[in-house]
Amino acid sequence: MGEMRDRGAALLGRLRELPGGPELLDLAAERDDVELVGGAARDLLLGRDPRELDVVVDGTAQAFADLLVCTLDDRFAEDGVRGGVQAHERFGTAAVRWSAGRIDVATRRAESYAFPGALPDVRAGTPEQDLRRRDFTVNAIAVSLGGARRGELRAVAHALDDLAASRLRVLRDDSFAEDPTRLLRLARYRARLRFEPDAHTARLAAEAIAAGALATVSHARIGAELRLALAEPDPVGALESLAQLGVLAALHEAIELDAPLARAALDALPPGADAWPDVLLLASLLLPAHSYDTTAYETRLRALLDGFEIPAAERERTVHSAILAPRVAERLQHAQTSSQVYETTHDAPLEAVALAAALADAEGRGDAADLARRWLCELRHVRLAINGDDLLAAGVAAGPEVGRRLAHALARKLDGELGQGREAELSAALEDL
Ligand code: CTP
Repeated sequence: MGEMRDRGAALLGRLRELPGGPELLDLAAERDDVELVGGAARDLLLGRDPRELDVVVDGTAQAFADLLVCTLDDRFAEDGVRGGVQAHERFGTAAVRWSAGRIDVATRRAESYAFPGALPDVRAGTPEQDLRRRDFTVNAIAVSLGGARRGELRAVAHALDDLAASRLRVLRDDSFAEDPTRLLRLARYRARLRFEPDAHTARLAAEAIAAGALATVSHARIGAELRLALAEPDPVGALESLAQLGVLAALHEAIELDAPLARAALDALPPGADAWPDVLLLASLLLPAHSYDTTAYETRLRALLDGFEIPAAERERTVHSAILAPRVAERLQHAQTSSQVYETTHDAPLEAVALAAALADAEGRGDAADLARRWLCELRHVRLAINGDDLLAAGVAAGPEVGRRLAHALARKLDGELGQGREAELSAALEDL
């Protein structure tokens, strides 16, 4: 008992160090009903920084969230960024977001499922029900943040032992059947926390997948979970875990993971906002679709990504990357000069070129892979100092001729055939073509 109190007290100490922690503790000081739960309690007990803070209260979550956001705004006023509250009445939750973090507030609840795979129906619940509704024992731990029980830990059976043993254990045998998105959560926790399911949970997961549980969930919810997997610190690890569980194979026949290839492609992708790692990973999952019937597969990929509610810009870039990567890898085999590399790559998304580098390497075509990497690191940044106006001023007629001449000058510049400066570029652009 003493040990539990010490662990609770240590947890509150760590909470006080986190953004929003002191404000949360102050607000909860006089209340008996505020507890930190779920991933936040789990991670603080493990000595990890939680992704966000999860809090349960009695009464409406939004009322507590509104109070919290006002307190945070007062304290962080100098940042000039005001927080906001996003409430979901159906689930009795309210998320507080402000400049330094996120706190999820939920009304203590009990849940039931109208049918397997449905979103849960939610009603007010006791503290015990609120723990028992959860996915894994390690997420069913709560610590009281105020009142007479301040610092007291509550947990379902096995939770603290499972935490110490890095074990994922469902609370009920029908947990995956009721909410198959938990299969994807299991994979994420395996990759992130390096926790493993106990034998019974592993068997239940396999049985749920074999029984087609994933087909009972909307594609939109699966898509949301996939995006969370892609946002993990080790997204390829999360995808590997999904593949090992059999989740990827159950989602769609076109989806398949080649983890070493995905990692190599991520390594080739340059850092920066113009490169989209999520798109690269999604496209890598869809590469095998190439061996399918040809004409319809682009449409099929779009339909699949639409089902997952991938935003249009990402969807298009994913489809193009999946289609172009093998073609770029193939064509780079025949490229000799930098301008030929440009011809092959400049219309392709960066993700397609990074995938092409990984594909070429995997097929033992290191030269083509090097060219793809050279494009990503260096050649794509080569620009002319002159533009169309310079050519018009030099007497070139407006029209396609201008573009053709600029392309010629760029090709010569890429191939290192031009001296420094605008004059050299201009005379290359005005050469007889
Ligand atoms: N939960 C659940 N089943 C789900 C989703 C969530 O039982 N399909 C419960 C879990 O107990 C989880 C809590 O709701 O701990 C909050 O969910 P979420 O915020 O998604 O997870 P975290 O606990 O914050 O864990 P992490 O963010 O580290 O993934």
